[in-house]
Amino acid sequence: MHGLIPPHGGTLVDRVASPDKAKALTEEAGELKRIDLTAKQSCDLEMISIGAFSPLTGFMGKTDFEGVCKDMKLASGDHWPIPILLSVDKGDAPAVGDRVALHAPNGTLQAVMTIEEVFNHDKKLEIPNVFRTEDEAHPGVKQVMEEGDTCLGGSVETVTVCVDPEGPEAFLDHRKTPAQTREIFEQRGWKTVSAFQTRNPIHRAHEYLCKCATEITDGLLIHPLVGETKPGDIPANVRMDCYKKLIDEYFVDERTLLTVMPAAMRYAGPREAVLHSLIRKNYGVTHFIVGRDHAGVGDYYGTYDAQNIFDELDEENIGIEPLKFEHAAYSKKAQGMVSGKTFPKIEGDQIFLSGTKVREMLAKGERPPGEFTRPEVADLLIEWATSC
Ligand code: ADX
Repeated sequence: MHGLIPPHGGTLVDRVASPDKAKALTEEAGELKRIDLTAKQSCDLEMISIGAFSPLTGFMGKTDFEGVCKDMKLASGDHWPIPILLSVDKGDAPAVGDRVALHAPNGTLQAVMTIEEVFNHDKKLEIPNVFRTEDEAHPGVKQVMEEGDTCLGGSVETVTVCVDPEGPEAFLDHRKTPAQTREIFEQRGWKTVSAFQTRNPIHRAHEYLCKCATEITDGLLIHPLVGETKPGDIPANVRMDCYKKLIDEYFVDERTLLTVMPAAMRYAGPREAVLHSLIRKNYGVTHFIVGRDHAGVGDYYGTYDAQNIFDELDEENIGIEPLKFEHAAYSKKAQGMVSGKTFPKIEGDQIFLSGTKVREMLAKGERPPGEFTRPEVADLLIEWATSC
């Protein structure tokens, strides 16, 4: 595949129907049982359709589900850390062999699926393995608890790829499929590419990680997650304005690409770091940034658990290289970004603000210090924080 890193499992999946086929599927769907997807399921379906979840061609069956929960492995033997399930209420379950119409939360027909398996959603197996906690205060645990008790496994044929609740045009200029990012890397002659996952605005620590990674690879993919996030996270459209502004002012265009990843957040810390890296491998990325408490929430995970999990996995099968970064912050004495690896710790030297503190400042129209957030980004965030 273009001489770039092979996709996970070897083949880049494409489940998007041709225009003629999509027309036929739409007609057929009118006669089929309708399943209304949750936002997370709709995001997962988009990820499957475009090959971002390669080698998955549909929602998982029982063997994959159990292997993923217990051993982080699909039946094929490839690593996979988090179940990708279509669960429904028991009473709504169709039979094996049925075809069903999958509708996005906004009502749009997204895909047609052939039911290959119907099985019990074993939440007692999924939750502690995936989230390392059963606490319902954890947003990912809560979400799975609220899901249906019956899972439908089977391949999908997709009619509408993007059904973003923000509208079909949402981030369209930046909504590139794995096949498209691979093509861009090829055109730009990037043989090694680092990717940065984020669900936040890019503050100075994030920027530092990005810059370090760019120093050692040909190019950088800034790849924010724009699928479903929990209430309280900064909306994707606000973040996108911040990313564009920051890239314009502080990054080198020829070395930087901004595209979006339409996945839903699970907040599963270590296991999600593995999922995030396999996804980026599918997009053609060779090096994946994993900093402190990657994809974490609250105090559920140790600061570097999301880095250490890679030591338990078969490096060759993972394929993409995790770039592990220690906690970074601005040091007044060093007059620059540092980590515990590059500069001695001095009491009170590093500029650190909690998320809550930053929110308070923004809501009052105050910029956080420039050593924490670039003023151009702060101004966009203030505009948002003072208008909502
Ligand atoms: S995440 O849910 O996408 O991980 P966030 O957008 O905050 O959240 O983080 C994006 C990436 O930056 C993750 O790899 C995270 O570990 C890393 N990161 C965030 N802040 C820091 C920091 N101060 N030092 C080192 N890494 C960080």
